[in-house]
Order: sequence, then C-alpha cells, then structure tokens
Amino acid sequence: MSRIAYVNGQYVPFASARVHIEDRGYQLADGVYEVIAVWDGRPIDLLPHLRRLGRSLAESRLEWPVGERTLRTVLLLLVERNYVRNGMIYIQISRGIYKRNFLFPPKEVRSTLVVTAHSHSRLASAALFEQGVSVITLNDLRWQRCDIKSISLLPNVLSRQVASERGAFEAWLLGSDGTITEGTSSTAWIVTNSGHVITRPLSPAILGGITRERVLCLAKLLGLIVLERPFTLEDAQHAAEAFLTSTTTFILPVVTLNGRQIKNGIPGAVTRLLRTAYLSSLTSGAAMGW
Ligand code: PDD
Repeated sequence: MSRIAYVNGQYVPFASARVHIEDRGYQLADGVYEVIAVWDGRPIDLLPHLRRLGRSLAESRLEWPVGERTLRTVLLLLVERNYVRNGMIYIQISRGIYKRNFLFPPKEVRSTLVVTAHSHSRLASAALFEQGVSVITLNDLRWQRCDIKSISLLPNVLSRQVASERGAFEAWLLGSDGTITEGTSSTAWIVTNSGHVITRPLSPAILGGITRERVLCLAKLLGLIVLERPFTLEDAQHAAEAFLTSTTTFILPVVTLNGRQIKNGIPGAVTRLLRTAYLSSLTSGAAMGW
C-alpha cells in the first residue's frame, strides 16, 4: 500500500516526491496552502476550502495552477489511491521555481502545485475530547494578513513549540490590544456564564476558519446566542467554557488556560452539544460540500 502524491501534473510515489531547491515556497515561503479533512472517505466542506484557497491565491497575486475541476479530481483520486477513510488532504501552491529574487518571476513561470492525502487515526478522537486540552497564551508575533492561509508559518511554529514545551496542546495568541486573536492553528472560542457563544469576528487578524463557519451555523441552528466579538484573556479565564476548532481537531474543549482550570476543568455542556451536532452534520452529508 505505497502512498502517492501529486506534484505539478504527475502522480508520484510519496517517498520520492520532490520540488526543486529554487522553488519559491522553499526559499521565500512564497505560497499558500489548504488542509481539508476526510471523513468516511469523503472531503469535508470541499467547496468552502476551495473558495478560501482561491481567496488566498488572489490576495497573494498567485494564479490557480490548474482549474478547480482538475484540482477536485486530483484530491478525490489521492483520497482513493491512498486509502484514506479518516484523514487529511494537504494542498500547497507556491509561485514556482526561479532564481531567488524578491520580485515576482516572469509570467511564464508556472506555480508549483503539491497535493498529498494521508490517514489520521486521531481525527475527532473521543478520548482527546473527554480529556480536554490545555492552552497557554503568548504574544501574537504574526503579520497583519493572517486571513491569508500563507505557508509562512514561522511565528506559529515557534509559538506552538513553546506551548508544547510547557505541556500545552495549543497557544492562544494575544494581540497588542490584549484580546485573543486565535490559536497557532485553530480558532478560539469561549462560552460565557450566560451561555453566549463567542468568537472573534473575521478580519485580517485571523484566518477565517472553515470549521468556525460550520460551528457558527450549527450553534445558531441549536438556538444558541452567538456573538462574533473579540474577547480578552480575562474573559476567557472567567468563562463557563472554552474550546477550539480546526479542520484537524474539529471541536476540542479547553480545560486549562495558563495553568488555571476553566470552571471545573472538564469539557462543558455547550462544547459537547456542538461537537455532537458537528459530527452528526458530517454523517448526514450536510458538510460534504459536493
Ligand atoms: N490550520 N487559525 C489558524 C491560524 C489556522 O492555521 C487554522 C487551521 C485555523 C482553523 O481553520 P480551519 O477550521 O479552516 O481548519 C485557524 C490548519 C488545520 C493547519 O494549518 O494545519
């Protein structure tokens, strides 16, 4: 069962998949990416992910390397050929191969497209949900266009590493105004003592999470009051519940923040309700985005 990847128009064995050392993604982090979850053999929210990829490309003045229809065919084929039931698709597009220069390469240089798909046994792990996760806060060191899903992730990597070294699952990033922007690779949420579900509104300070959209929608369908507004560390410390969302984790309860328990340190009822609704929306086909 050898894995295969897609690199610039070719399906190649994963072990020997390569891009050139002068690829601008490698040298300048000049590119964008997407991560799409696969659930029961099908990509979740495919269309919103492709729409966000299109936006990241446009904002980065990058071209689609292939048409959207071709890309969809590639994704589905990789899921099938890599026998992915539950897992992930990764798409990366860079500004192509050219001698290192901050200016864009000439028009004829084609962007580089790499796609991989792999299984992920801990996707939506019930055990991790029941355990809950710890989060620490760190200053947000990132640039002012976090709405672009850029492969330039050094501040995220450094912050996540610090979190891990301090025994935490994720770092929530604090903006200069004292509000929490988001996690290094997830959206941050709290539930107030009056039951209001709160997450930051879309802006260049955060990535517009696809999971965020689905959770917002489900929360409203469940009759919860949802407020898209910034919140502070203090708000989070005094919240009834806190949780994080992303393509790779779905919905995970945050049970300690900077070493202090949130409420009684166990997953909250609203978080549980949202996770149940999220999982059933996947199996009902509502999230497939075909
Ligand atoms: N990260 N914010 C940041 C900075 C992220 O990197 C991500 C996702 C999210 C959540 O977005 P979504 O719900 O669309 O996954 C928010 C992906 C999973 C990653 O880089 O691996």
